[in-house]
Order: sequence, then C-alpha cells, then structure tokens
Amino acid sequence: MEFQTIGVLGCGLMGSGIAQVCAKAGYRTMVREVDEGTLQKGLGRINASLAEGVKRSKLSTEERDRALSNLTGTTGFEDLHACDLIIEAVVENLAAKREALNAVDAVVGPDTILASNTSSLCITELAASTHRPDRFIGLHFFNPVPIMTLVEVIRGLATSDQTYRRVFAFSHALGKQAVTAPDRPGFIVNRLLIPYLLNAVRAYENGLGTLEDIDKAMTLGCGHPMGPFRLLDFVGLDTTYYVANIMYEEFRDPAYAPPPLLKRMVLVGRLGRKTGAGFYTY
Ligand code: 3HC
Repeated sequence: MEFQTIGVLGCGLMGSGIAQVCAKAGYRTMVREVDEGTLQKGLGRINASLAEGVKRSKLSTEERDRALSNLTGTTGFEDLHACDLIIEAVVENLAAKREALNAVDAVVGPDTILASNTSSLCITELAASTHRPDRFIGLHFFNPVPIMTLVEVIRGLATSDQTYRRVFAFSHALGKQAVTAPDRPGFIVNRLLIPYLLNAVRAYENGLGTLEDIDKAMTLGCGHPMGPFRLLDFVGLDTTYYVANIMYEEFRDPAYAPPPLLKRMVLVGRLGRKTGAGFYTY
C-alpha cells in the first residue's frame, strides 16, 4: 500500500527539508508549525531551496512548481487527519515530541503510521506514548535533507513488519538510501559522529589548534566535506548538545558528555549558522 498524503510536524531546518523531499517526490504534503510566522519562515526556506535547485539545474521549473503545488502549511493538528504517514520533526525534546505525537494520534485514522525524526530519543518509548506502537517507527534524515542521501529506519520493540516494510519502501520512493539502525541512542551515524564532534571541542579547549586549522586538517587530511566546527555550526550547537546529553544519560560514558564550552555557547545562544554565530560568525 503506497502512501498518498504525508504530514510533517515542524517546519524548522529538518522539517522543512523533509516536507520538501516528500512534495518533490509527488506526495501531497502538509506541514504543521506552531504559529503562522514560524510556518511562513519554514515555507520560505523550502521555496529558497527549490529555487536554488533550479538555479543549479537539479530540477526544472515544472518540477519545482509541481513540488510547491503538492505542499500545504497549517498551524492546526486536526488538518492532518487524512494523512497516511506523519513524520514528526519538532525540537529534540521528549516532552515536546510526545505532545506533538499525542495531538496527531488523536485525530488520524487507525491505519496512519507515525514516524519520528528523532536523532537520539528511544523509539520504543515515543511509540509507547501513542495508541499505535505497532504503527510507529523511527525515520531519521540528515541535514541538509534535500541533499543528503541517507535515512536511518529504526524499529521500536512493537513496530510491525508491515510498518517497517512500508516505511523502508517509502524512503526509497523519496530517492533516499535506507539503513536499518537499532533503537539505541544516536542510532548508527550519531553514535559515531557525536563523540567525534565533542572531541573536537575538547581538543580546541585544550589548545590543539585554532578552529580554522582543526577544520582545515580534517577537511584536507581526511577528505571530510566540512571540518568539525563548520559541521557543528551547520547541525546546530543546541541539537548537538541535546543529543549528547541524551546519549550520556543512556550510556554513562564520558565520551558522550558535552564539554563545558559547548554548554556555555548554547546558554548564550551561539547556536551556529541559524543564529548567525556559533564557532564562526555568519
Ligand atoms: N537543491 C538541490 N541540490 C542542491 C541544492 C539545492 N538547494 N544546493 C546544493 N545542491 C547540490 C549541488 O548542486 C551539488 O551537487 P553536485 O555534487 O552534483 O555538484 C551538491 O548539492 C553540493 O552542493 P555545493 O557544491 O554547493 O555544496 P558543498 O560541496 O559545499 O556541500 C554540503 C555542501 C552538502 C552541506 C557538504 O558540505 C556536506 O556534505 N557537509 C556535511 C553535512 C553532514 O555531515 N550532514 C550530516 C550532519 S548529522 C545530521 O544531520 C544528523 C542530525 O541528527 C544531527
């Protein structure tokens, strides 16, 4: 059974990217934000990204127009009642995710599948807070969503085979490559990436080199597209901090403990590119 209509909760960095790829793949897509201002900001991001795609000859103007015609924004949960699949992409916080998931769980039909784009929270725990743990799954995208090809598909303890097969096939229909990851904090990518990013911050605190030199070393020495500090600014220091805390709570391994500098930067709102300043100024 193919999905027809996709709902996306949250139109921030990740939610807008997810809504964009769903609409571009031909699905009727409805994205929900908390208020009109935040929604318009997110829809503006999608418009700009599609325009950039046209400029770079990655899609035609007809494909852009078709994608935009598939896309609708809303501020009400009830408007998502007819969605076959809803992908939650709100802030990386258990209470906020539960609140959004419970709100849609109450308005959608019994066949609707709920997916979470969490980077680190337990899928089984999120599923347990809904009335459909068998129709609940993790579907983790990477930033920038329109460009990064990977998704991680995560089964909770109660996720049914049918839910898993349908969502796995859906990720391919979006033009992504899927890997199945275990329901453990960080799944595969962040389990390896977060300690690397935290270590870079610790190394910088300990005087290993300048930000520029550490980034240059990892870019030119290892062929990474971005050094760790550019990547931290890109992903968002707050997101990295939340994910690290969740992983540290689960594993109690100091490798996942956020370094003091990261915490302080989050406290003063230097969150990276999205706030105009992180390790670098934009
Ligand atoms: N629409 C369609 N295609 C676009 C586009 C758009 N709006 N913007 C750019 N592109 C295409 C370009 O045309 C180019 O395609 P090509 O390779 O066929 O020529 C490709 O995307 C790369 O674009 P650029 O050349 O302009 O940009 P860069 O080469 O500087 O790459 C980057 C930008 C893709 C962001 C690269 O720096 C990168 O891969 N960085 C690492 C990102 C990363 O690691 N992300 C994962 C973070 S972890 C995460 O998200 C998990 C979370 O839980 C924390």
